[in-house]
Amino acid sequence: MASLASPSPRIPAALTVTCMDCGAVHGAEHAVSICLACGGLLDANIDLCQRLTPADFVAERGSIEAQSGVWRFRKLLPPISVDRIVTRHEGNNPLFHDQRLADYAGLSGGQFAIKHEGHNPTGSFKDRGMTVAVSHANTIGARVIACASTGNTSAALGSYAASAGIPALVLIPEGKISASKLSQTIAYGATVVHVEGDFDVALKLLRELIGSFDVYLANSVNPFRPEGQKTIVFEILDDLEWQVPDVIALPGGNLGNTAAFGKALSEAYQVGLISKLPQLVTVQAAGAAPFAAYYESGFDQYEPVQAETIATAIKIGDPASLARARRSIELTGGIVTSVPDDDLLDAKALIDRIGIGCEPASAASLAGVRKLVASGEIAPDATVVGVVTASILKDTDAIVGYHLHDDDAGQRREFANRPISIPATLDALKKVLDDAVHG
Ligand code: F0G
Repeated sequence: MASLASPSPRIPAALTVTCMDCGAVHGAEHAVSICLACGGLLDANIDLCQRLTPADFVAERGSIEAQSGVWRFRKLLPPISVDRIVTRHEGNNPLFHDQRLADYAGLSGGQFAIKHEGHNPTGSFKDRGMTVAVSHANTIGARVIACASTGNTSAALGSYAASAGIPALVLIPEGKISASKLSQTIAYGATVVHVEGDFDVALKLLRELIGSFDVYLANSVNPFRPEGQKTIVFEILDDLEWQVPDVIALPGGNLGNTAAFGKALSEAYQVGLISKLPQLVTVQAAGAAPFAAYYESGFDQYEPVQAETIATAIKIGDPASLARARRSIELTGGIVTSVPDDDLLDAKALIDRIGIGCEPASAASLAGVRKLVASGEIAPDATVVGVVTASILKDTDAIVGYHLHDDDAGQRREFANRPISIPATLDALKKVLDDAVHG
């Protein structure tokens, strides 16, 4: 495991960021997305000389800390003044324990709990990052906020920008995001631009725009987005009464979340909230797994890929937060792996079937842990928290495809649940009832 950074010098209560490559410190009273000195990725600075205990996160009734599961952790977030905060009461999401998940993952004697980020106001974990980024944009008087997206970031930006009354510009890879996410983004009033090509092309185009125009970038290279997403980890730890699980598993696409989770763990450790780290496990879809291949090479060789997967949220071939995500995996002695679409869809169908539900990309956590338990890389008695990143309603086409159609080999899917058509007679209906009760 890589060593934890020694406590940084006390940072004054100001908005500053530090370059992870050259260490330059920049003020953030204007929009910042990459280091002005060397082009490296930036981290928002937090006061890590403070000592915190769980009692520091008990919120006063009616306060912003009580309303939001993100701002509740304000002591570990950039210093943004309350009157600039744009919140939709995100966070405070459930942690579900269900033995059927542990059994499916092969965790005999272990546990698999789901942290459900689909319970956020726009239905994905992106709301946590967006409340901080849009609050920062609101602090510095940004005139327009923009992102490229596979659909969830755009929905979150649409909502938070609308709440703040700031125009939002969204670049979408044309025809490559789910109808639910597209409609959500349109409904919140963002200006939606369909770009020919994939997500990677759209993000590259947007970054060119940011270089020459005064536009606030809300993708996770923005150092304030991961700050909000850190609170997923703080909340998991709080749910577990600050007992550290063995593993935290999450899906990986553009890798902002993997980056955020490592920063959260490092900070929780440095301020004295935890005394050891869990292993981070990032799971990609096999057709969009450049980070898993990079990990396999011992972080020696990195190659972007042409991404292809049914999990459109993570259909990304050249992740922008790669370097920060690598740091998280190294820090925690973590693992990066990938799973085929069929495994991902079966894991999703199980999560749905037990009443919890999620979108396809979210199920990478469960599918990946199952693979790593089978290969012996995760012990069967491990305590695991899998982060489910978005709601079941985010991709209804994938649900219909799974349940109503066979797989490419012509096989019925493992958890397929097909509607039954009957003539309008009581006999036919009674037969359906008999079959349902007696199997
Ligand atoms: N799960 C869901 C549901 C997502 O929407 C995303 C990313 C991820 C996982 C991967 O997270 O990028 O931090 O590694 N969606 C982005 C978007 C790319 O535009 O909505 P990551």
